[in-house]
Amino acid sequence: MSDHDAIETPHDASADEPLGHALIEVRGLDVEFDGHVILSGITRSITRGQTVAVIGESGCGKTVFMKTLVALIKPTRGQISFDGADLNQLSPAELAQIRRRFGFVFQHAALFDSMNIFDNVAFPIRQNEPDTGEDEVRDRVRTHLLEVGLPEEVAAKFPAEISGGMQKRVGLARALVLKPELIVYDEPTTGLDPIMSDVINELILNTRRMYPVTSVVVTHDMHTARKVADRVMMFFPRRMLGEGQSQILFDGPPSGLEHADDRRVRQFVRGEAGDRIREMSRAMA
Ligand SMILES: Nc1ncnc2c1ncn2[C@@H]1O[C@H](COP(=O)(O)OP(=O)(O)O)[C@@H](O)[C@H]1O
Ligand SMILES: [Mg+2]
Repeated sequence: MSDHDAIETPHDASADEPLGHALIEVRGLDVEFDGHVILSGITRSITRGQTVAVIGESGCGKTVFMKTLVALIKPTRGQISFDGADLNQLSPAELAQIRRRFGFVFQHAALFDSMNIFDNVAFPIRQNEPDTGEDEVRDRVRTHLLEVGLPEEVAAKFPAEISGGMQKRVGLARALVLKPELIVYDEPTTGLDPIMSDVINELILNTRRMYPVTSVVVTHDMHTARKVADRVMMFFPRRMLGEGQSQILFDGPPSGLEHADDRRVRQFVRGEAGDRIREMSRAMA
């Protein structure tokens, strides 16, 4: 599918694919809040093992899209299935069951301040697999902390006592303890210096090498998108598009971004303001 088609056609071409062949399938997704349309007409599928970066300017709906995929936000319209199960049709108990197959790495690490690092990482095991013996809990916590490059001594510390980069790594370790099939990362490198950002990028790649995981990485960091993803989806704010225009301006390998047909994609990846300054001053007038 060319970029041109993506803009002109109201529905994405993948709508014609047979159901049930991808890990995640999104059909005709609309999300509205208080009458504000945030996402509309999104139809996409994500294959098992893919690492998809979701990029786009602040406020365009990346986090909302990601949260909808993992059933943290209920769509206004449309269908989302995970491994053949329609998320809308599941009972609360079934939803809880399916969420165990997801790992979440939230934007601000979202660790429990009152728990030390060990208990933070052990939390999902204790919560979801309460019969697990303490020896096994200890083994798994230690393994996953080592995987993200954290020494054992860190386990006894509290979140406030470690750096932001370390907190993000603990967040990743915690997401890994239940061996998720899908990991979603929300802005995993935002707020980190370039070196620490690259440590996180390497860890995302490493996680993919070690486990047969599918990943969705929401980011506005182009280094992260280029480095970790085998597929990039660029979203555009719905309010800035005309009727029937696709909200996804680009969907393809990162190597195609730089020469995308759509000028807005090239501008975004090069960090150019383009027409946006004029649009902003119009909006303020
Ligand atoms: N729970 C919510 N209730 C109302 N509006 C929301 C909610 N979550 C997100 N929004 C709005 O949806 C838009 C997209 O948000 P978001 O997905 O967080 O953007 P981003 O692309 O920066 O991740 C924003 O305008 C935001 O204010
Ligand atoms: Mg966001």
